[in-house]
Amino acid sequence: MKVLVIGAGGREHALAWRLSQSAGVEEVLVAPGNAGTALEAGMRNVDIAVDEFDALLNLVAQEKIGFTMVGPEVPLVAGIVDYFTQAGHACFGPSQAAAQLEGSKSFSKEFLARYDIPTAAYESFTDADKAKAFIHAQGVPIVIKADGLAAGKGVVVATSIQQAYSTVEAMLGEKALGDAGAKVVVEEFIAGEEATFICLCDGKTAIPFASSQDHKARDDGDTGPNTGGMGAYSPAPVIDAQMHQMVMQQVIEPTLAGMAADGIPYTGFLYAGLMITPQGQPKVIEFNCRFGDPEAQPVMMRLQSDLLEVCQKALAGELAGTQLAFDSRTAVGVVMAAGGYPQAYDQGEPISGLDKELFDTKVFHAGTAMHANEVVTNGGRVLCVVGLGSSVSNAQARAYERVDTIGWRNQYYRKDIGHRALNR
Ligand code: AMP
Ligand code: GLY
Repeated sequence: MKVLVIGAGGREHALAWRLSQSAGVEEVLVAPGNAGTALEAGMRNVDIAVDEFDALLNLVAQEKIGFTMVGPEVPLVAGIVDYFTQAGHACFGPSQAAAQLEGSKSFSKEFLARYDIPTAAYESFTDADKAKAFIHAQGVPIVIKADGLAAGKGVVVATSIQQAYSTVEAMLGEKALGDAGAKVVVEEFIAGEEATFICLCDGKTAIPFASSQDHKARDDGDTGPNTGGMGAYSPAPVIDAQMHQMVMQQVIEPTLAGMAADGIPYTGFLYAGLMITPQGQPKVIEFNCRFGDPEAQPVMMRLQSDLLEVCQKALAGELAGTQLAFDSRTAVGVVMAAGGYPQAYDQGEPISGLDKELFDTKVFHAGTAMHANEVVTNGGRVLCVVGLGSSVSNAQARAYERVDTIGWRNQYYRKDIGHRALNR
């Protein structure tokens, strides 16, 4: 069977790579893909953007594609799964209605409250003065979130009242984020350690992937500006067996049951971004309607199950009794970024060293492109280099050993990916 992966990032390279190893897969098409997916055996890029639904559907018909996997949230929230399904094509992901768990913070907060799923206390506002009065009453730190999709710019953890007020004024008053910020959620700040818990869902049943943790801050020691993620590792030791069970019982199972009871059963990858409080309580910080990036890179590195087969089971509503198998070793993924990211950075820099293979490592591409037979940088987060090892420190050493052999002008990466797991 031919399968299609929609997207262009490191997550899509990792998903496409695992799909290409599935027993039933003859070729993986990636739209639009990157240099990594262009060079991979059994893969082919097609130059169609993730929001060109008609062109994507034409491609599916022309190439007789049997299964489509959607990487990023934007096409999911815009309803690509409904569109493909109505055309009779197997497309893996949540419906537009179910994708609101990520697409609208007020939808997901209202859902969590109604089903008594642990999360931060909150209020929604469209009026800046009312939001400020609430902030004044609550005090800081406090968290302000744009209601809609804002490409990672929609969350501000305010540490002063002044910062909280100016965030509200920018979002609600000056419409700095457009429609995405026309409504805001103001919520309680929760202290603790973050972890990523992603499940494969068929509307009724959720099967967990191995846990993971990403590093959102740009610089070592979790300092500097917030980014899309500078690295990730799996498993996350903060999710021990007992915590795993609590997350399934208190978060995942009630979410699947609640969505089904509301008439919008959830099929696809469900990403729960959790805060594990010092008291050992998991709280939902956010839902995403897709796999994590860069979490997909270390998690796919460890996945041993046939990805196409389990996703087809999920689409058919037949996940009950399924288990996912993972390599018992730890995977650490280090993002190599363009210097300057997440602010301005250069593109088009030739990357050297990509051909130097190293056992138990894999380089997933994100912001790369082919330019006259050469791989060049084409984004802020350029590569994610994953190493496998029998311990966190072994996996980390392996990943950095490979990182050291790759380079381009003005590259940047964190030197401490995995530090929380190492310090345990
Ligand atoms: P998000 O874009 O929703 O993942 O939020 C970005 C980051 O803001 C999260 O990874 C957390 O570090 C932080 N954050 C979001 N909500 C809260 C909260 N209620 N309490 C503490 N930190 C939060
Ligand atoms: N790594 C965070 C995310 O995928 O949203």
